[in-house]
Amino acid sequence: MKFANAQATTYNDTVVRQFAIMTVVWGVVGMLVGVIIAAQLAWPELNLGIPWLSYGRLRPLHTNAVIFAFGCCGLMGTSLYVVQRTCQVRLFSDKLAAFVFWGWQLVIVSAAISLPLGYTQGKEYAELEWPIDILITLVWVAYAFVFFGTVGTRKVRHIYVANWFYGAFIIAIAMLHLVNNASIPVGFMKSYSAYAGVQDAMVQWWYGHNAVGFLLTAGFLGMMYYFIPKQAERPVYSYRLSIVHFWALIFTYMWAGPHHLHYTALPDWTQSVGMVFSLILLAPSWGGMINGIMTLSGAWHKLRDDPILRFLIVSLSFYGMSTFEGPMMAIKTVNALSHYTDWTVGHVHSGALGWVGLITIGSMYYLIPRLFGQKQMYSMKAVEVHFWTATIGIVIYIAAMWIAGVMQGLMWRAVNTDGTLTYTFVESVKATFPFYVLRLTGGLLYLSGMVIMLWNTFKTATAGRSVTVTIPAAVAHA
Ligand code: HEM
Ligand code: HEM
Repeated sequence: MKFANAQATTYNDTVVRQFAIMTVVWGVVGMLVGVIIAAQLAWPELNLGIPWLSYGRLRPLHTNAVIFAFGCCGLMGTSLYVVQRTCQVRLFSDKLAAFVFWGWQLVIVSAAISLPLGYTQGKEYAELEWPIDILITLVWVAYAFVFFGTVGTRKVRHIYVANWFYGAFIIAIAMLHLVNNASIPVGFMKSYSAYAGVQDAMVQWWYGHNAVGFLLTAGFLGMMYYFIPKQAERPVYSYRLSIVHFWALIFTYMWAGPHHLHYTALPDWTQSVGMVFSLILLAPSWGGMINGIMTLSGAWHKLRDDPILRFLIVSLSFYGMSTFEGPMMAIKTVNALSHYTDWTVGHVHSGALGWVGLITIGSMYYLIPRLFGQKQMYSMKAVEVHFWTATIGIVIYIAAMWIAGVMQGLMWRAVNTDGTLTYTFVESVKATFPFYVLRLTGGLLYLSGMVIMLWNTFKTATAGRSVTVTIPAAVAHA
């Protein structure tokens, strides 16, 4: 049939276009909620006395929106683009791909409604209640079928390294989601965890840390291995290193979770295992960062006038920073100072805004014009402005949190010669106020960059048209 043939020789970019647009939209929404809670921490009365707008409900809305809406839409969209290009074949199933897109948007909307209403499992990053968890499982299985089905029907022998990272992200998240969300429903939107006490805590932070390792790291490394070489027009610095990087990273991450539970009821030896594996993790993380940055060898000059490449490369420097800081914070004596303080929040956002945010934004700026048949974004000047607002915003945000965090830690442990505490808790809260205002300023800058991106995306999409790309003929008939 003519129609079927036409389909077989073209890529399915419809689903990629949908995910790309929603990445930008959810980015703005999630970061807006981040700005609102940052303002609430400085001025708590901004919850306006309305339960739906209270900090405790909006905070998980922020984390779910930025991780599962912004982050996952970026990962799903780019992975479905990359797997088709590197396997030289159309997606395994168009219908399943459409289900993945619409199903995932339904998950996001359900989260956006249920979290402000106060429905939660009370597990960080796994707050969503069991009916939504079931929907997530169905969509994820469909996503796995589309991704691995495409790899399975590839027309080139080799499986490019970016697909390994995306594949590990898909498998690990499936496993983490199923294990950590095992619960006993006791009504619609109410359940109890299948685990109790310290085991529940251990399972939760095995999940939490590997969500960092496989979603916020491995998935985005998949992006790095495709989009940096493409934008720099250079091959990956060392393909051999990328394979060592892959295996070392996925093996080590799995053991590091207990660093979230130092000095708790968790057996001491488990905490030490977590600490040691976190220290080891520095090596593969930096190996990956070096591989990404060195891909620019011989093309450093491109950084001067290519803001997209700058987004991609600067993201790697933040990746390096947060993966140096993380192992340091995992050392028990350092954690004794940093835990419970804003230092942790600073660490999180140097990874989240710096690494996850910038690599996603850079990849989207590469992708969006191509998806709409344009040579480049509608305004490259706006991309340049975005780069600087985002970078300055991150620096203000994380510097404020580092100073606040170390200050809090030192104030809480300060004792007088007679053994009494030097400061009351509320004194530390008062001392933190200026840093909360500074963080809000950084957040506002970062958000304004995203709003500029939304405008630029809209202009690019409306100036162009949805294009259908033909799979290179020689390979399509191979
Ligand atoms: C405009 C940008 C953003 C602002 C203003 C912002 C603000 C905030 C604030 C105020 C908190 C609560 C901190 C606390 O409880 O003390 C928070 C938590 C968090 N945010 Fe953001 N955020 C932004 C972007 C992002 C992005 C892009 C991500 C991820 C990709 C992210 C991930 C997180 C995570 C994981 C937490 C929980 C941290 C923890 O439990 O230690 N944020 N954010
Ligand atoms: C070698 C890599 C890394 C190690 C060893 C590491 C280690 C740590 C440690 C020790 C904590 C503090 C735990 C506590 O005191 O409660 C932490 C918190 C956190 N890190 Fe990392 N980190 C690494 C990389 C990253 C990256 C790249 C990101 C983000 C993209 C990230 C996101 C987070 C988040 C979200 C939390 C807060 C969890 C929570 O309490 O809600 N980490 N990390």
